[in-house]
Amino acid sequence: MSEIICVVGARPNFMKMAPILTALKTHPWIRPLLIHTGQHYDEAMSRVFFTELGLPVPDRNLEIGSDVHGKQTGRIMIAFDALLEERAKARLVVVVGDVNSTMACALVAVKRGVPVAHVEAGLRSRDRTMPEEINRIVTDTVSDLLFATSPDAIENLAQEGIDRGKIHLVGNPMIDTLKVHLPAARARTPHVRLGLPPKGYAVVTLHRPSNVDDPAGLGRILEAISGLGRLLPVLFPIHPRTRERMARLGFQGAPGVTLCEPLGYLDFLGLMDQAKLVLTDSGGIQEETTALGVPCLTLRANTERPITITEGTNRLLGDDPAAVLPAASAILGGDAPPERSPRLWDGKAGERIAAVLAKSMGDD
Ligand code: UD1
Repeated sequence: MSEIICVVGARPNFMKMAPILTALKTHPWIRPLLIHTGQHYDEAMSRVFFTELGLPVPDRNLEIGSDVHGKQTGRIMIAFDALLEERAKARLVVVVGDVNSTMACALVAVKRGVPVAHVEAGLRSRDRTMPEEINRIVTDTVSDLLFATSPDAIENLAQEGIDRGKIHLVGNPMIDTLKVHLPAARARTPHVRLGLPPKGYAVVTLHRPSNVDDPAGLGRILEAISGLGRLLPVLFPIHPRTRERMARLGFQGAPGVTLCEPLGYLDFLGLMDQAKLVLTDSGGIQEETTALGVPCLTLRANTERPITITEGTNRLLGDDPAAVLPAASAILGGDAPPERSPRLWDGKAGERIAAVLAKSMGDD
């Protein structure tokens, strides 16, 4: 038996790890140990995903919780270092995405001489004010196996001098999860439960510090969302970070805009699938809307996922919320990006990743 340590910490990690764990079952001599850092801990931000995605209960939860980034990262490192000391026979650490847990555990592993595999390597926004960009660069720099979702990611890594022999283009494991669960998500018809007309409403999500932390900027975005509510019904599930900032502004909602708590995976997927358009600043949602063929408007100045624009349904609005209404009106007027899907976003990324992991540990 060879033990590998699979790390998850925050909401977007769970969908990426699930298909890898499933595919590893076909390599029975590999024993994955699932570690949750506890960066996200609420029922709605964590447990519901384990239940709905059929993820195993983590073998260990480090229960780190929220804090400013330095302290949160440091606490994850201390706890994960103790875990690696205990699991001295672990052969590999697998990290996914770009959250603080990803970088913290990659750093600890490399300092203990344990090889690191990074899933979703090579994405770059070229905006170093984004905490995730630092996490991506650091994690890729110390990784031994780099799994890329798209060819642009490979070019980014090559430009940074990373040996091409370490890089594997495998497709997108988050889209594996989407394909597995889409029938169940559709069967729940969450838009009917919420009284939203099929293909006749918008879904909005916002949580990037660059959009929600500055009260004046958030105020302008909330005005744009209120304007959107005059064009079509809007559903706005609110991330805890955003809820706290909105409460400080005293925003109570607007006509046509329904505010709700963060949603589980299946309801949110079902709601995106039946939406006319999605307005977001999330990275994962840019990819999920591309896979669903649903128009996505991204309220950011840059994206680390340009393939969702060149080969998907994403449009980058910039960071001025004045762009929201004209872009939404254009979609309502029939000017939607064509539906297409990037190569290898075919539901088999988890299998490809598991095969490379097995080979790297000596199983041909
Ligand atoms: C983190 C990730 C971000 C990812 C996002 C998805 C980093 C740097 N950021 O941002 O890349 O897109 O998760 O959600 O890793 N909170 C709760 N309950 C929870 C978790 C958080 O109430 O279960 C609240 C806390 O007040 C916390 C705030 O949300 O301070 C922010 O959480 P945090 O994990 O620090 O960052 P996110 O903004 O969620």
